[in-house]
Amino acid sequence: MSRRKQIYEGKAKILYEGPEPGTLIQYFKDDATAFNAQKKATLDGKGVLNNRISEYMMIRLGEIGIPTHFIKRVNMREQLIKKVEIIPLEVICRNVAAGTMAKRLGIEEGEKLPRTIVEFCLKRDDLGDPLIAEEHIHAFGWASQAELDEIIGMSLRINDYMQGLFAGIGIRLVDFKIEFGRLMVDGGHQIVLADEISPDSCRLWDRETNKKLDKDRFRRDLGDVTEAYTEVAMRLGILKPNPATPPHLSVVPNDK
Ligand code: C5P
Repeated sequence: MSRRKQIYEGKAKILYEGPEPGTLIQYFKDDATAFNAQKKATLDGKGVLNNRISEYMMIRLGEIGIPTHFIKRVNMREQLIKKVEIIPLEVICRNVAAGTMAKRLGIEEGEKLPRTIVEFCLKRDDLGDPLIAEEHIHAFGWASQAELDEIIGMSLRINDYMQGLFAGIGIRLVDFKIEFGRLMVDGGHQIVLADEISPDSCRLWDRETNKKLDKDRFRRDLGDVTEAYTEVAMRLGILKPNPATPPHLSVVPNDK
């Protein structure tokens, strides 16, 4: 394992060369960062939870016809994925005002938005991933009009599906961030969902109590971060309670 070629190391994940051409291994770290890596910590078990939750979301989205980079989970912390050219955009879908949008526009956090809002940020850590307009995407050629139409269409379908999925387990999908890539196929390319979907990249609030079950627990020093991620995994049916082990380390029997 240590001899594998590392392709890229990000804040929460590492990419290694995969076993076949056109594949990669995506490794989920326990590292957590916020505010463009000004705040850092290691959260025991977070990588395992995000690997499982992201696997679950990618499979469910694949079932409704969203093409994704996901092939299969290979162990507790790793997934086999298709190699794609990442489009340098963070696509944010918002259903409820929170985070940077609430602050930027002076809207109270928790206010339901009149409709889903899709925002774009440029993936540039050195610039703090700045908010951009579609105009910038076109002018600088980060994605074509056709690609952007597809990205927006897919993002709204993902949002609709995930809102329903989470509502069914008593969770409000406040907002989330996704990324897309270009998958080379037959001389052309297809846009596919890439990266991850996990409590690191979504805001998830309990519908009854508004308890935050996502990375804001880390960003805002609310504590019990992995416990909250574990609760999401348990409500999704990925983990089962096991009184003998810490909840975020207990896994269903068929786990490798
Ligand atoms: O911070 P902000 O309110 O813009 O975040 C919107 C959503 O996008 C949140 O769910 C947050 O977790 C996610 N996000 C992310 N990675 C970033 C920025 C935001 O996953 N770099």
